[in-house]
Amino acid sequence: MSIHEMRKTYSMAGLSKKDVAPDPMVQFQRWFEEAMQPDLPAWVEVNAMTLSTADAEGMVTSRVVLLKGIEGGRLCFYTNYDSKKGQQMALNPQVSLCFLWGHLQRQVRIEGTVTKSDRGQSSNYFRSRPRDSQLGAHVSQQSSVIDSYGSLQDEFTALALRYEGQEIPCPDHWGGYDVQPNRFEFWQGRPGRLHDRICYRNTGDQWQLVRLSP
Ligand SMILES: Cc1cc2nc3c(=O)[nH]c(=O)nc-3n(C[C@H](O)[C@H](O)[C@H](O)COP(=O)(O)O)c2cc1C
Repeated sequence: MSIHEMRKTYSMAGLSKKDVAPDPMVQFQRWFEEAMQPDLPAWVEVNAMTLSTADAEGMVTSRVVLLKGIEGGRLCFYTNYDSKKGQQMALNPQVSLCFLWGHLQRQVRIEGTVTKSDRGQSSNYFRSRPRDSQLGAHVSQQSSVIDSYGSLQDEFTALALRYEGQEIPCPDHWGGYDVQPNRFEFWQGRPGRLHDRICYRNTGDQWQLVRLSP
């Protein structure tokens, strides 16, 4: 099949303003639970989200990261603070997140402002990670140019020996970011490309609900 012939009809469900929770985070959690179906193929990661960041000139980059928690109305992910995304978020804290739950013909878009998580939260999460991931976080100077994969492996092995039998500390260059949302959009695919788009906008102390044209 050629690319231009690839298309699906979306007809699983609909979404209207009266169906959704007044609080968008409650609605998000409802959809997240629905996305976590027990019979999903193992490769599906429902907590995978596309994070877009921009630098001071408006140059945008996107990549996938994993949602790792929702605390006090904020969505949290972990990464290297010196990475390309880290450098962009230091200059410009406006970010967008996008979840695709294709098995439900759903998309959720979230826009908001990012802040670094507190060190206690980052260290706690770091401690809960597998040891290999902890070593990887130390070894990777994420987004920088390297000579070879072999040099990474050598550093990994040396560090594994150095920390043998000891707790691996959370590196200073690694930790969480918390996204405080100011806009949510819940998208449900519909036939004829007349999709449902229910959007929440933060108007100070409350959320305003609107329907957008597909
Ligand atoms: C499914 C998936 C999950 C990922 N999760 C993370 C993550 O949680 N944190 C992270 O730093 N990178 C994660 N990555 C790697 C990023 O997409 C990206 O390659 C990396 O963060 C470097 O991005 P940057 O150079 O734009 O900073 C993930 C990639 C995929 C495909």
